Amino acid sequence: MRFFLDTADVDAIKKINELGLVDGVTTNPTIISREGRDFEEVIREISQIVAGPISAEVTALNPQDMIKEAEKMSKWSDNVVIKLPMTESGLQATRFLHQEGIKTNVTLVFSVSQGLMAAKSGATFVSPFVGRLDDIGVDGMELVSKLRQVFDRYGFETQIIAASIRNREHVEKAALNGAHIATIPPQLFENLWSHPLTDQGIIRFAEDWKKFEKNRG
Ligand code: E4P
Repeated sequence: MRFFLDTADVDAIKKINELGLVDGVTTNPTIISREGRDFEEVIREISQIVAGPISAEVTALNPQDMIKEAEKMSKWSDNVVIKLPMTESGLQATRFLHQEGIKTNVTLVFSVSQGLMAAKSGATFVSPFVGRLDDIGVDGMELVSKLRQVFDRYGFETQIIAASIRNREHVEKAALNGAHIATIPPQLFENLWSHPLTDQGIIRFAEDWKKFEKNRG
């Protein structure tokens, strides 16, 4: 499973990218607005840091304007992926962009039928929102698993980005349930490599080694 970072914080992306584990980045209007910076400038900067797909979301609500925005944004960098909402207009724009060879990420997916329609429209990626489904008492990860079953059964190449990831369990279940990608907020990403037993283990090894060296003289 690939790891994307779910952020537009350039400093965080630079720092985490040094690990060599970042395969792409996702943004949305909320994430971009948090930075208080020019949208184009931020996306261009991110695409210089990370070589993989960088999702940038349209804000228009009708297909013509979505396509105009998408065509402009896709010129910002070769690795820009156009994020479109899972609406009738979003599907129309997705189909058009697919025919133009422009990669898309259909976002705000909450059901199998939405994911299936996005895949049939030629979406490169679909983003089921796991955390927001959990928030309303629905098992978000079950949607990831069902989408994977359907895509595999019918031979869709559309890749599943487990989005709205809130905790370590979400990341692990995304992998177990067949997500191609998990998009992870930086604060969570930086916690994934740690475990209290690892920390305790290191302390114990160090103490035992010290004793051993002391006894050896
Ligand atoms: C990523 O593509 C999504 O926009 C993001 O994961 C949404 O996360 P949230 O539900 O925590 O806002």
